[in-house]
Amino acid sequence: MKIARFSRLGFILAAAGSAVGLGNIWKFPYITGEYGGGAFVLVYLITVLCIGFTIMIAEMLIGYLGRLDAAASFETLAPRFKMQWRLAGMMGIWAGILIMTFYSVVIGWILHYIVVAFGSLPSSVVEAESAFSNMLKEGIATQLLFHTISFLMITAVLVRGIKGGIEKLNLVLMPMLILIVSTMFFYALTLDGFEQAWDFMFTPDWSKLNSDAFVTAVGHAFFTVSLGMGAILTYSASLPKNSNLTKSSLIVVGLDTGIALLAGLTLFTFLYQYGAEPAKGPGLVFISLPAVFYEMGTLGNVFAILFFIALAFAGLTSAVSLTEPMVQYLIDKFSFSRFYSAVSAGLFFYVVGIIALLSNTTAYSEVLSFGSKNFFDWVDYITASIMLPFGGLLMALFIGYAVPKSQVHAALKNSMGKGFELWYFMLRYVAPIALVVVMLNLLGVLSF
Ligand code: PHE
Repeated sequence: MKIARFSRLGFILAAAGSAVGLGNIWKFPYITGEYGGGAFVLVYLITVLCIGFTIMIAEMLIGYLGRLDAAASFETLAPRFKMQWRLAGMMGIWAGILIMTFYSVVIGWILHYIVVAFGSLPSSVVEAESAFSNMLKEGIATQLLFHTISFLMITAVLVRGIKGGIEKLNLVLMPMLILIVSTMFFYALTLDGFEQAWDFMFTPDWSKLNSDAFVTAVGHAFFTVSLGMGAILTYSASLPKNSNLTKSSLIVVGLDTGIALLAGLTLFTFLYQYGAEPAKGPGLVFISLPAVFYEMGTLGNVFAILFFIALAFAGLTSAVSLTEPMVQYLIDKFSFSRFYSAVSAGLFFYVVGIIALLSNTTAYSEVLSFGSKNFFDWVDYITASIMLPFGGLLMALFIGYAVPKSQVHAALKNSMGKGFELWYFMLRYVAPIALVVVMLNLLGVLSF
């Protein structure tokens, strides 16, 4: 049962808030750095625009037509195999809450860095590196404290529901985030390093594009626009009637890509300007960047504070969208109150998040590592690289084959016009084939 609905603007900002997250500002620059820039960016852009945008409309449609939580929306809409399709929704709900286990820990690091930015920044990359790895490996209490704060903030928003919590949060934080990112970008434009940053991001060096980079780029394209797990689906179940899904998808994908590119260009400009390394891995924004901000003097402190605040905003608006599918599921399925559902979902990612957190520390990394990765990295890998693309594939197949074309067409004909057939073709053939290739590659069956 749904009473509260998003306003139109509220929905756009909430969906964009979900999409624009740590993926854009933390992950995108460092994986671009690791995989050598231009060619990687190009694959990512093509995937987002062709496959991401196509499946985004399908995912919105499932929620918009189903009007229920992710699992039940699949079930009601499926003409046959209802129980099997329900599982697709369930998988998404679990993917979201699992992503939250490490996502909340990373939000915790960011909150900690806001505090750091008010004091003295590390004066060199070496110093910044040891500060970061010290927090990661030895700082159990610090990380626990900030992970707890993150959990409390996220749960507090979810308890207030779609309108009073999620919509309000996004109406306030998203414009501020866009303002901060654009201000920093315009400053970066005035620096000499900008040209190098532009070259790095937009001049493709195809020799760097191995199959690993390809799979990462496709996986990231899903992660960054929040596809494949039901976040967008769950929000869409609270859309007002007669919404224009095509336009909404376009705005969300456009904003997400725009902010990733602005953030990437800004970061790389700063890094080049002060001679730091772009290929620093996950520590990029926590290591190279603070050292660069130090070089900028007082302005650097202001930038550091603004930057980490923007990052925290981006993280929080995505975090609520990652948890909401589980919350909505608990409300729909078991008739639990919103308060009880939000607290239970929150506690789940909080407690499992502690295991993720500990798995990075010296004291516990050994017990919490399995094979080549620790718990934290496994969860990231299994959710982002496997569950999201797989979830996206199921959504494409569901709307492309299981739901009758007439029903799909009726919902989209006004907003798409003649474009419908092209979209439907992309959904039925291009997106699934591309995704199957990526997954076979992941499983090691196919390599190129
Ligand atoms: N899109 C978010 C980011 O870029 C992460 C996310 C993935 C959120 C899937 C919701 C669903 O950080």
